[in-house]
Amino acid sequence: MAKNDTTAENTQLKDIIAHAKEYGFVYPSSEIYDGLQAVYDYGAYGVELKNNLKRLWWESMTRLHDNIVGIDAAIFMHPTTWKASGHVDSFNDPMVDNKDSKKRYRADVLIEDKAAGYEKSGDLERAQSLLGAMGKLLEAEDLAGVHDLIVNEGIVCPISGTSNWTEVRQFNLMFSTQVGSVAEDTTTIYLRPETAQGIFVNFLNVQKTARMKVPFGIAQIGKAFRNEIVARQFIFRMREFEQMEMQFFVRPGTEMDWYKTWAATRVKWHLALGIPEDKIRKHDHEKLAHYANAAMDLEYEFPFGFKEVEGIHSRTDFDLKQHQEFSRKKQQYFDPEINQNYIPYVIETSIGADRLFLMTFCNAFVDEEVDGKQRTYLKFHPAIAPVKAAILPLVKKDGLPEKAREIVEALKYDFNIIYEEAASIGKRYTRQDLIGTPFCIAVDHQTLEDNMVTIRHRDTTAQERVPISELHARLSEACSFRRIFEKI
Ligand code: GAP
Repeated sequence: MAKNDTTAENTQLKDIIAHAKEYGFVYPSSEIYDGLQAVYDYGAYGVELKNNLKRLWWESMTRLHDNIVGIDAAIFMHPTTWKASGHVDSFNDPMVDNKDSKKRYRADVLIEDKAAGYEKSGDLERAQSLLGAMGKLLEAEDLAGVHDLIVNEGIVCPISGTSNWTEVRQFNLMFSTQVGSVAEDTTTIYLRPETAQGIFVNFLNVQKTARMKVPFGIAQIGKAFRNEIVARQFIFRMREFEQMEMQFFVRPGTEMDWYKTWAATRVKWHLALGIPEDKIRKHDHEKLAHYANAAMDLEYEFPFGFKEVEGIHSRTDFDLKQHQEFSRKKQQYFDPEINQNYIPYVIETSIGADRLFLMTFCNAFVDEEVDGKQRTYLKFHPAIAPVKAAILPLVKKDGLPEKAREIVEALKYDFNIIYEEAASIGKRYTRQDLIGTPFCIAVDHQTLEDNMVTIRHRDTTAQERVPISELHARLSEACSFRRIFEKI
């Protein structure tokens, strides 16, 4: 990667982080105490954007598919869950420390960054061969080999600039805590590192009570926790985050067809949301997780390069089989079409709500020069924009605020609306651009005569005169999820 590119990318990410904080989207957690690494809070507009994204995902899973239903399982689960799922033994990241800077890194991330460097400089073959070599070593759990690969590739610590590395070790990512009030009587439990297990342990409950027939899916949105070794790139890698996962239960032998179907459906979903085709790509996993027989990432081109936003995994019958063994309770489904009992296979789609937020934010962030002036705005799809319209009386007198308030009353039950009367109309437009409000509706003296208002469009800044009676229909059309759903 050329040095200038790196600088430009870092600057863009820095601008995005600063904008997100300054305009009420994302703050560092407990900032007055200097923050907590890799933990963030969402502000007034951030929570609206995040809720819209979660609702969009939820509805596109549960409403658009009559064979997918939702659940909301608890964060705490019986500790045996994590023994059965393999997380106690295998949910590890290989880590390595630099002895000079005392900084800790994920060994695979150091190697992936090196490969990304080869790719950027056009040496695709070398990038592929490096990733292939790493995949094989990790598969064989050859940590000494991973160490040698780092040294032989001349990978140095970005802080100290040296390759004085410790050996590579495995580090479990689960957070644990104690339940029980008497010291001798406590049990160690874990904060769930993925929401999926809440779905697996409820597979039969849901199948029976919602009367589902294979193939069917269970969707869930909820918090997950991982003690990430390298927490970096803002909300990309957090220690507390939210996942949106859907497990799709299928007849054994059909899983590869469903895997391809779900990968295609999820790519379409991202495109429908407004992500340009050249900014999203599929990436097959070099190293498969302990539960998968096929896996891919959907990657988005963030300012720091193409990185995973969503995982599509073919999890076989691994999880249900393990839970059957550890709980000694049958996890089988009777398929009336073929008159057989079996443990279903599972295709999983798993996306982080925070990563989706970051992708949407990066994609919407526009900082451009127009007629010699800098203009910054967030071009969110109106359906997910935190605020749909700002109602702005031109002046604070002559009955204009009252007329504007009437419009707010007519719209507020169906749309998130802002009323603002302070500062010049130009300044108020700019403020709405900065939080990505697609429509500004100005009320002027003429409005009192003809019941018409001026709509100012965020992306083009074009203005048009519209009757107040048409506002509701206009906003409904522009802001409805239907416009996104129709493209999926
Ligand atoms: N149940 C499968 C699973 O958890 P994963 O690839 O480890 O698979 C799925 O995670 C998604 O969760 C990722 O694609 C990412 O969007 C999100 N995610 C994972 N770890 C994260 C973290 N530390 N911070 C933010 N999002 C994360």
